Amino acid sequence: MIQFGPAAAADVPDIVRLLRDDDLGSTREHADMAMYQEAFREVSKDPNQILVVGRRGATVVATLQLTIIPSLGRSATKRAQIECVRVDSAVRGSGVGQKMFAWAMEAAVARGAGMIQVTTDHRRPDALRFYESLGFTNTHHGLKLFF
Ligand SMILES: CC(C)(COP(=O)(O)OP(=O)(O)OC[C@H]1O[C@@H](n2cnc3c(N)ncnc32)[C@H](O)[C@@H]1OP(=O)(O)O)[C@@H](O)C(=O)NCCC(=O)NCCS
Repeated sequence: MIQFGPAAAADVPDIVRLLRDDDLGSTREHADMAMYQEAFREVSKDPNQILVVGRRGATVVATLQLTIIPSLGRSATKRAQIECVRVDSAVRGSGVGQKMFAWAMEAAVARGAGMIQVTTDHRRPDALRFYESLGFTNTHHGLKLFF
């Protein structure tokens, strides 16, 4: 059984391990744990953010970051944004991602969100199918500008 909930500071190395645990993530993450701990402190202070982990026993096997975005648009609908989604490669395809999203969707609705948005890299066709299996529809273009 996997239990989902907010991450603790002690989970940061495991979260970074999961962020690295895929083809694209392995090229993006750094060895310096201090910057991740600083980012964790910033995320933890913000009531509109939940850094989520899924634990099987003492082992962190999944993570995502849920952000609630208050908004005037769409009749003042609060948006939930979900990013940094990873399931440990050892347990992918066994329903962990689906359960983690069920937890996150419930948390988003409990915080007043009326919609959830995700983005995924075009190089991740499996992730797109995963999101579509959860009911997300591919209706928008996602554009990014990096500094
Ligand atoms: C994408 C990811 C989060 C999905 O989590 P998961 O635990 O593997 O997915 P689940 O086992 O819960 O699958 C749920 C449904 O998604 C779909 N799905 C999941 N993985 C899939 C794959 N590789 N190919 C096609 N469909 C897939 C299926 O419809 C599946 O339902 P089914 O098993 O009843 O057919 C996980 O595989 C992962 O971390 N991948 C690498 C990193 C990544 O792509 N992250 C997303 C960044 S945007």
